[in-house]
Amino acid sequence: MARRVAVLISGRGSNMVSLIEAASAPGFPAEIALVLSNRPDAAGLERARAAGIATAVIDHKSHPTREDFEQAMDAVLTRHRVEFICLAGFMRVLTDWFVERWTGRMINIHPSLLPLFRGVHTHRRALEEGVLIHGCTVHFVVPELDAGPIIAQAAVPVIPGDTEESLAARILVQEHLLYPQALRMICDGSARLEGGRVAFSQRWNGEGALRSPI
Ligand code: GAR
Repeated sequence: MARRVAVLISGRGSNMVSLIEAASAPGFPAEIALVLSNRPDAAGLERARAAGIATAVIDHKSHPTREDFEQAMDAVLTRHRVEFICLAGFMRVLTDWFVERWTGRMINIHPSLLPLFRGVHTHRRALEEGVLIHGCTVHFVVPELDAGPIIAQAAVPVIPGDTEESLAARILVQEHLLYPQALRMICDGSARLEGGRVAFSQRWNGEGALRSPI
């Protein structure tokens, strides 16, 4: 049985689309049961509706406190019988209460090779630091921001002349491949949160390397 997944967004929702498309393939262990946005004007909402996915808006501005906002979200998630949450460009910091309620069942995609460049402006900071390899990470969400156990990462080269935009675009291609893979792994049980670490039930070989410059 496919696990019921909610995708939480705040913006354009390109990662959300990649998850919806992956989940529509026969045999994928997840179905996108709900797309929830904290912003009524998030472009991703229209894209979700066009794909026939149920949507909900919980506007953080119409809730007096963070706790109140999150309780409203939790109620909608429960009503839709959601089992796993994917944060996909969801730009609200979550309280310990909400994170602990969904421990081991909530994942996030972050546009850097964590633990490098937690927080915002990851591509700008990568360029400033002069790293030659950059990338994206899918991790379980823990109370500390961008600090959770890592499920999957993808790396890309940084090349001379790169801008924030060119780097973001190169990484976004990888995000769209990585996030469905990570969702598959948590839904079929091949990556589980155990004692604060990710336990993998499959092995992969350690051959090959991404070199930059090649
Ligand atoms: C993605 O690049 C995602 O990694 C990033 O926001 C973008 C959302 O794009 N997430 C964060 O920065 C989280 N801290 P999308 O709405 O097109 O998926």
